[in-house]
Amino acid sequence: MSDSIDYTSLFRLDGRKVVVVGGASGLGRAASIALAQYGANLVVADVNVEGLKDTVAEIEAQGYSAESAETDVTDTESVVALAARTSRYGGSGRHTRDQRAQADTQHH
Ligand SMILES: NC(=O)c1ccc[n+]([C@@H]2O[C@H](COP(=O)([O-])OP(=O)(O)OC[C@H]3O[C@@H](n4cnc5c(N)ncnc54)[C@H](O)[C@@H]3O)[C@@H](O)[C@H]2O)c1
Repeated sequence: MSDSIDYTSLFRLDGRKVVVVGGASGLGRAASIALAQYGANLVVADVNVEGLKDTVAEIEAQGYSAESAETDVTDTESVVALAARTSRYGGSGRHTRDQRAQADTQHH
């Protein structure tokens, strides 16, 4: 029996890319802050630019980082642009899997 397992590491998101839509306020903001704390490569998307700034400022004030992306989910072009942007952010899918494997190795 090991008595030195760091159980918090089981839930780390280092190297994982996460997009939160609706992150300018309410539940989306709370989720964004939590995901940043867990180490995700985070993009916070919302139609509310001022709210986005506040969310990112709060995340940065806590010592974490996040990208913001003005996005209107009712506008196809806007969603396509978000997808294109976030596919670049934090590396390709393959890179992300590699990072995930690396993170798993580090944490287990
Ligand atoms: N707050 C609760 O306790 C609760 C409980 C159950 C369900 N819900 C539901 O969950 C959802 C979110 O709740 P909330 O309290 O976080 O609301 P909220 O209004 O604080 O957040 C919604 C976010 O969505 C963004 N948004 C709206 N239209 C958009 C668009 N076209 N493109 C991109 N972003 C857009 C807004 O700018 C806002 O930042 C709502 O549908 C709500 O009914 C909330």
